[in-house]
Amino acid sequence: MRLFFALWLDIDTATRLARVAASLNLTSPGRLVDAKNYHVTLAFLGEVAESRLAVLQQVGGSLQAPRCTVALDSLEFWPQSRVVVAAAQETPPGLLRLWTQLREATGLPRAQLRAHVTLARKVAQPPVVQAMSPVFWRATSFSLVRSETGGAESAYTVVDTWPLLDET
Ligand code: 2AM
Repeated sequence: MRLFFALWLDIDTATRLARVAASLNLTSPGRLVDAKNYHVTLAFLGEVAESRLAVLQQVGGSLQAPRCTVALDSLEFWPQSRVVVAAAQETPPGLLRLWTQLREATGLPRAQLRAHVTLARKVAQPPVVQAMSPVFWRATSFSLVRSETGGAESAYTVVDTWPLLDET
């Protein structure tokens, strides 16, 4: 199964972001991501044997990171992956902590974190991306998610979710 850890956007934030995405006026064949699928990927694990699932759930349950507010404030076209994203110019320290812990626990390299929500995929022509008003989002939990590719859009199933902690 194909798994990844992610922060899933709440419906209010996703709705606000979907309005930004709708204003992109993508030329065909760009495809807008369904707002219910908006997420920030923290650790993409790829194909994972079912027998590893319990270990990954243990990893998720053992992490301790605070809630944080993410400002999605930069619309960008990334030509290599042909996506348009809403990215955070600044990474909140709590998010960096969660991301670092997750990558260490899963053995992924510590690349540069660029927190982003992918709004559109398969964007062939660089769109004119305008400045965006920041969309502030309070992240209160993170999830282990299964992705099934093959359809027009990947189908995501949340396997498990863990709360982020109240800051004291
Ligand atoms: P994204 O956050 O940039 O959209 C589930 O497939 C998620 O994992 C996608 O949303 C995607 O990133 C990310 N992902 C997919 N394939 C990946 C890969 N090969 N390397 C890193 N991240 C990947």
